[in-house]
Amino acid sequence: MGPGPRRSSPGEPSPDLSESEIAVHWGEEAYVAPPAEFVRQANLGDPTAAQRFAPDRFPECFREYADLLRWRTPFASVLDASRPPFYRWYVGGTLNAAENCVDRHLAERGDQAAIVFVPEPESEPTVSVSYAELGRRVGELAAVLRDDLGLRTGDRVTIHLPMVPELPVTMLACARLGLVHSVVFAGFSGDAAGHRSADCGSRLFVTMDGYWRAGRPVDHLANLAPALAAAEQGGHPPERVLVWRRYADRRMSEVPLVEGRDLDARASVARHAGHSVPAVAQPSDAPLFLMYTSGTTGRPKGCQHATGGYLAYVAGTARAVLDLHPGDVYWCLADIGWITGHSYIVYGPLALGATTVVYEGVPAHPDPGRPWRVAERLGVRVFQTSPTAIRQLRRLGPERPRQHDLRFRLLATVGEPIEPEAWRWYHGEVGRGTAVVVDTWWQTETGGILCSTWPAIHPMKPGSCGPGAPGIRPVVLDEEGHEIAPGTGRAGNLCLRAPWPGLMQTIWGDPDRLVRQYFRKYNRDPESRDWRDWPYFAGDAALIAADGYVRILGRVDDVINVAGHRLGTKEIESACLAVPEVAEAAAVPVADELKGKVPDVYVALRPGVTVPPDEVGRRVARAIETAIGKIARPRRVHVVPDMPKTRSGKILRRVLAGLSNGREPGDVTTLANPEVVEQIREQIAGERPER
Ligand code: WT7
Repeated sequence: MGPGPRRSSPGEPSPDLSESEIAVHWGEEAYVAPPAEFVRQANLGDPTAAQRFAPDRFPECFREYADLLRWRTPFASVLDASRPPFYRWYVGGTLNAAENCVDRHLAERGDQAAIVFVPEPESEPTVSVSYAELGRRVGELAAVLRDDLGLRTGDRVTIHLPMVPELPVTMLACARLGLVHSVVFAGFSGDAAGHRSADCGSRLFVTMDGYWRAGRPVDHLANLAPALAAAEQGGHPPERVLVWRRYADRRMSEVPLVEGRDLDARASVARHAGHSVPAVAQPSDAPLFLMYTSGTTGRPKGCQHATGGYLAYVAGTARAVLDLHPGDVYWCLADIGWITGHSYIVYGPLALGATTVVYEGVPAHPDPGRPWRVAERLGVRVFQTSPTAIRQLRRLGPERPRQHDLRFRLLATVGEPIEPEAWRWYHGEVGRGTAVVVDTWWQTETGGILCSTWPAIHPMKPGSCGPGAPGIRPVVLDEEGHEIAPGTGRAGNLCLRAPWPGLMQTIWGDPDRLVRQYFRKYNRDPESRDWRDWPYFAGDAALIAADGYVRILGRVDDVINVAGHRLGTKEIESACLAVPEVAEAAAVPVADELKGKVPDVYVALRPGVTVPPDEVGRRVARAIETAIGKIARPRRVHVVPDMPKTRSGKILRRVLAGLSNGREPGDVTTLANPEVVEQIREQIAGERPER
């Protein structure tokens, strides 16, 4: 047994923009072995697994994942790495992603539920969509897309839909035709959706009248006008809009459809009842979708994922790491609008013939027993969620899981580090000590899980995500690019030595940015054609213990991880600058007991502004919600007399982050205006806690 926990409390603040300090105080936890019953039935249980995925088997080891799919044309080689860091997987192969997720299961499991939709209002019945029914719905919608809207293979479609079955149906209908979908999280504002739509030149924008969230109806169609305005401003408005309705017999929005531009999805599909269109075979490296994510610069980047490599990788990891079996009832309590939902609600589980639960609302609605009621009723065997949701469900209803007959075989977490206390509750109370817990580390860019214990093979260790997934070799490099040996206790930058099939292909419209942001840091020879010269830089600080387990410490760049999702500080700051009174803005992460981190915003005003600070604060908060969405809402907006600056005029966010987190701001002697730090500190002390 290892030493007991000796870590700081989750609420303890970090002094710096880098989040490293928080987790680095964690001690090593004791191992927890997977139960024998789990091991016996596991997909990845036999002792040869480690050999099959050993480094000398690269890249051939990834053939195993591709073999989970149906190929129209078999691939000629597993990897073409002739032009790093742009890789082509399963070269020469063709396939269709929708056919793999739907059609090929029809013979064997047509009557089995593919999707189980759980509406947020508990008074509404659960809707089960069989594979046969899913096939019918996908086919009919594909007919609408092709024949009514004239969309062609390669066209982009932006999908701004909530968590309803129409979302996966729309994604799969796109995939059936080889249209590239770009799903934007429904909680993002119309503005944010419109900018993303314009960035990739979407021809079609898909939305819905409304949905339920936290007990309230949301008028989602109200986001359409700002979305179209933003897309127009971006120079690429969509030609048409497809509007779903949440209910057949009533409307959740008063916003009228615009003749000639908007198409009623329910009515269009009804006109194509019984029609289908053939699934278009796509080259393995044809793009399947884009997923926008925040980075170090203001503009979100469209991570482009390939059809063959991505689908093989998510199917393979859903099988190996989440241990999904065909027919398993599986629930990932994330949103399909994030990469987690793409990979592990839609594509991975459906490729494997599992039953995937789509839940409309927030986890703890109307009470923190909700997820456990649903899981008991549906017989969920594999469950996945974020540490934020776990912390919240634990805080609001620690005893709730025990009140239900829960039979989880495997529990997964994703998105942020999980504290050992939260881990132990998840394992002991939710999993009754008999479920295996996997802490999965990965990113939008990586397509699928990169670090995790192999559930039947490695013991669990709370607070560590574990070693590399099959075929994945994480390393920690120092600033000079030297490997920091496991077990030294030193942290550095988490990198991947070799490529893998789920790695994004490029950034939409900006391949240079892929090189710059993920590979330049550790590439010494830009001309090199050897993948070994191109380690992938993930942007996370981490350390690797003697046992090879990776512990993630947090981001090293200007990204705030709110409830397991990335927000760019630059995006937030540019939203603040949309308020005319604001001259300068700085966003910094502040520790939050539930969400891990939330943004705190500092603004300095233009000279001569007479608007009262409270009012400016409200305008700034509103501007952030308009530009990004409620998820980015700041904890507080501090209107300050001046920003702490270096002599060269750079805002020292580190100092502000220290103040926000109630820490010493560190050395301020190099500041051009050290006196302002004391002023801001006094001001913060005098502010009443808000929000
Ligand atoms: C960032 C990626 C992966 C899908 C959801 C988020 C953080 C992710 C973990 C984990 C500690 C984690 C990292 C990463 N992260 N998983 N298990 N432990 N941190 O995707 O929005 O692209 O964010 O989330 O900082 O870089 P994303």
